[in-house]
Amino acid sequence: MKKYRIGIVGATGAVGQEIIHLLEKREFPVAEARLLASERSAGREMQACGNLEIVKETNENSFENLDIAIFSAGSQNTENFANAARKSSCVVIDNSSAFRMDKDVPLIIPEINGELLEHHNGIIANPNCSTAVALMALFPLHKRFGLKRFFASTYQAVSGAGAEGVLELETQVKNKFSDEQIEQSQNVFQHEIAFNLIPHIDSFREDGYTKEELKMRNETRKILDNSSIGVSCTCVRVPVYRAHSISINAEFDAPVNVPDARTSIENFDGVELWDMPNSLRYPMPINYTEKEVCGVGRLRLDHAFNNGLALWAVGDQLWKGAALNAVQIAEELVARKCLKNI
Ligand code: A2P
Repeated sequence: MKKYRIGIVGATGAVGQEIIHLLEKREFPVAEARLLASERSAGREMQACGNLEIVKETNENSFENLDIAIFSAGSQNTENFANAARKSSCVVIDNSSAFRMDKDVPLIIPEINGELLEHHNGIIANPNCSTAVALMALFPLHKRFGLKRFFASTYQAVSGAGAEGVLELETQVKNKFSDEQIEQSQNVFQHEIAFNLIPHIDSFREDGYTKEELKMRNETRKILDNSSIGVSCTCVRVPVYRAHSISINAEFDAPVNVPDARTSIENFDGVELWDMPNSLRYPMPINYTEKEVCGVGRLRLDHAFNNGLALWAVGDQLWKGAALNAVQIAEELVARKCLKNI
């Protein structure tokens, strides 16, 4: 079997670590795992894909002789290095928002629009974490009933803000119950996150929405290839370690019914219906941490729409919202034989 040389930019970060884990778990054929990060981590030793690797500082030459580079080091680093990677004939799969809305860059959830990988131009974008989880729930319903518009409120875990976000929650919780106060090195969140909710993720725009909330609208339209779908989203940071939850109220073109909605979700790869409220079964973040599928529950007719459904979706944002989706894109590039840089 052919093996591939793969670079991970941001290998020491929350998503980078999950990428390494998933490459191993899913037995991606790795010939070389090149661990790239900032100069702060250069020289650190880490196990990856069966070998002890030394983390290297990312620079323009880091991509020589690589087939694929998965970037998870923020938009600025993607902007700094993606073109160097392309010039080295290395296909970029990017977790940041740097190129998501670029019309020449496919924005991919393999179960939904993987066929677009056939026409990539060397950079492939991974969607925003909440958008990926929401669309895993909405896409089967969209195929069956035709999505017209939806309202979403997200409940986003602290690991969505990286390893520092997790540390901040942990520190604040410990400090609440201890006389000895641990000093917090920096503030990742705008307010205290322990035992609190913060209705503010990313920066505010003039219209009052945040950039994160706009990603739900813009990326949904791009992935579903329909610019008329209406989306209004409120993003909330919650004191949960891992897995994002989303409350969704969606209106459809065709008349809806719950049995057909259930069947559509049950028949769609990558999502499971976990919906027996009377037996206390509904998706929750603790049950979807380190789970490859997303969960949908609380599926019911929406009381405010004529053709509407209300639902609750949960997914591990570090996996389906980032690392897993990126590894699935790499797998799909191999399967479709389109691992070439144009
Ligand atoms: P480093 O550990 O050297 O700072 P997280 O999302 O968990 O905060 O992780 C961010 C990731 O992005 C880390 O792996 C971090 O590496 C990496 N990173 C930060 N700055 C750079 C940079 N200038 N070049 C490459 N990687 C970077």
